[in-house]
Amino acid sequence: MSDGAEIVIRGGVVVDAGGERTADVRVRDGLVVEVGSGLRGGRELDASGCFVAPGLVDLHVHLREPGDEEAETIDTGARAAARGGFTAVVAMPNTDPPLDDAAVVAAVLARGAGSTCDVVSSACITKGRAGVELAPMGELYGLGVRLFTDDGNCVADAGVMRRALEYARSLPGAVVAQHAEDPALARGGHMHEGAWSSRLGIPGRPAAAEDLIVTRDIELAALTGAAVHFLHVSSARAVDMVREAKARGLPVSAEAAPHHFTLTHAACAGFDPLFKVHPPLRTRADVDAIKVGLADGTIDAIATDHAPHTPEAKERTFEEAPPGMLGLETALALTLTELVEPGVLTLADALALLSWRPAALAGIAHRHGGPVAAGRPANLCVIDPAATWEVDPGRLASRARNTPYGGRKLTGRVRHTVLWGEPVVVDTEAQR
Ligand code: DOR
Repeated sequence: MSDGAEIVIRGGVVVDAGGERTADVRVRDGLVVEVGSGLRGGRELDASGCFVAPGLVDLHVHLREPGDEEAETIDTGARAAARGGFTAVVAMPNTDPPLDDAAVVAAVLARGAGSTCDVVSSACITKGRAGVELAPMGELYGLGVRLFTDDGNCVADAGVMRRALEYARSLPGAVVAQHAEDPALARGGHMHEGAWSSRLGIPGRPAAAEDLIVTRDIELAALTGAAVHFLHVSSARAVDMVREAKARGLPVSAEAAPHHFTLTHAACAGFDPLFKVHPPLRTRADVDAIKVGLADGTIDAIATDHAPHTPEAKERTFEEAPPGMLGLETALALTLTELVEPGVLTLADALALLSWRPAALAGIAHRHGGPVAAGRPANLCVIDPAATWEVDPGRLASRARNTPYGGRKLTGRVRHTVLWGEPVVVDTEAQR
């Protein structure tokens, strides 16, 4: 927490789950202490023309530590997060060693403490993410883990998934998050199976690989009563099935990544591995269905699946390169440019998807996601909705460079980020 220094965020429109109002925000000792008009004093951060919102929360971030620190570290990932307006991120467990053990999770939490973003740890569902034997979920829960996932791998065995869900049911607030791609169907594929994979001669990963696991796990949620979360939903059928499951009253949630509502499989036409990701970029109809799912509440969160890779790794051929793309520093602007500006979402809907709904899913709503009110943690971001900028891969805070959006012009930018009362980004620049 910040050391008593006072800041006043002046002249903005405060927006949180309660609505919008023009107000200044006074912050001291890590907390919001006053929200009102005409506030002065301390260090002043200009917010004129801006929205002052709860900090963003990303349910799905690969920080690569331990094991692949050349691609990203907890420190560089947290810097990228802060620049993207995030005040909390959930670190994925496909590290080396994986986060399937209390000592490794405790080390990640210790490394994350004091970063420019709160680092929340997920943990594996199964030991070694091998899909066979359950990780010590109770012990990991005791360290604060709420989101369990083998992300990168699907828990393919329905019996193992059932046992994980039955175990999770005894842990209040625990969520079992599935990377829904049946490995038997997706194996050997490098992009969406469809017109473009045929044309390019690249083996495909069919949408059915995703749809089969989503339908299966919805039935497992019904069988066990435990909460299932679908990571990076990318197919139209999957969105429809999640919508139906919610209508049945099942404890099912879902997230979508910005690349799945901004890019289609046609982007792979140049064989550029920057566009390779799992699950893959799909068709225009899938992209449109994701947008509908975001707008009608079927999809609960926008999560980046920030997946840094070294230039050497991504400079291989499309088939040899690893899947994944950066997301933290472009997510908000892509959401504003592609969804809010065209009227698919209101700004409040977008912030719900990027802040308070993921905060609740991650079990951190007492610390992140607002409301912006006296007595609440001062985890905030200030957004300039009119700022235009061009994505420059060379100027990212992330250690990696694998953004597919280089050169793209976006509207809307994070101007300031405040973490526990400390301005960690001011006028788009990192403060430490
Ligand atoms: O494209 C992806 N990359 N999808 C995943 O699920 C894992 C991720 C990674 O770790 O690089």
